[in-house]
Amino acid sequence: MVERIYLAKPRGFCAGVVMAIGAVERAARTEEKPVTVYHSIVHNHTVVDRLERGHGVHFVENLDDISALPGGGETVVFSAHGISPLVRERARALGLSTIDATCPLVTKVHTEAKKYAREGYTILLIGDSAQHQEVIGTSGEAPDNTILVGVLGKSGEGLHDPHTVTVPDPDKLVVLTQTTLSVDDTRRTVDILKARFPRLIVPPSEDLCYATKNRQDAVKAIAPNVDAFLVLTSTHSSNGMRLLELAADTCGRAERLETVADLADLDLESVRSVGITSAASTPDDLVQAVVAHFRALNPDLQVIEEGEWENIEFREPKKILPGQPLPR
Ligand code: F3S
Repeated sequence: MVERIYLAKPRGFCAGVVMAIGAVERAARTEEKPVTVYHSIVHNHTVVDRLERGHGVHFVENLDDISALPGGGETVVFSAHGISPLVRERARALGLSTIDATCPLVTKVHTEAKKYAREGYTILLIGDSAQHQEVIGTSGEAPDNTILVGVLGKSGEGLHDPHTVTVPDPDKLVVLTQTTLSVDDTRRTVDILKARFPRLIVPPSEDLCYATKNRQDAVKAIAPNVDAFLVLTSTHSSNGMRLLELAADTCGRAERLETVADLADLDLESVRSVGITSAASTPDDLVQAVVAHFRALNPDLQVIEEGEWENIEFREPKKILPGQPLPR
């Protein structure tokens, strides 16, 4: 029987996710026609489901599908992961109003990509998948200057190995990264690239975001105390899946839960002490439901929650009408 739970802190929603979900909810309240979101606003099934069922929001992967949706739609929200300029231009061509809920920390990487591409640099963009929305968006800012590099241990279609990637000019080279990778694997990947390309520029402010780093640190702090880790995340959440890998590495056993219902599939008979964390896109009520489950089985359950919450807020984005100039 589980006797102790260590709740990772911080865990769950980051400032970018709070801002993005808030932008969709506000648009759904104030727009006359149904609001559409391009891509999952954040990578969590429960969040998307609640916005669809509770707020009548539609989700599309192609802006051309909006006109055929029930009730039509005039306003599209871009997800927290960011978009390629081609998507922004397509929205404009279709006469859509736009609300850009890209996390400002992703926008910062876009700005770096544009700056270095303008100066003629080749960008080595480290990511965990060429298909991840953030990687598509960032590389879309400078498609002719960007080479995708897989973070250590990740390979896949479109990702180059840091040990063998070739570049046109090793003297004009910069490395940028997806914001939600493993801190340790990213550092090792950059080290490999630096050893191969000594003049590689590594921007002084790392691209990995504060929420990614803090959630990984919180897992490391708890791991020595627990027999097993439960990580609440959807499989397409990059930062959540990195937490799952880290928890498995540091504690020996880590299980992914979408919701409390998934506990039914786990054998936790021999487990006394459990660590719990959640992705930056996982609502905290899903974590509290897991705690309540264990408390119902053991009224003497001890819940330990040490650490600090973050105190960061991002401003909600404004709506841009079809005729207004595109942001630079
Ligand atoms: Fe932004 Fe990091 Fe959250 S990039 S959306 S603060 S996980």
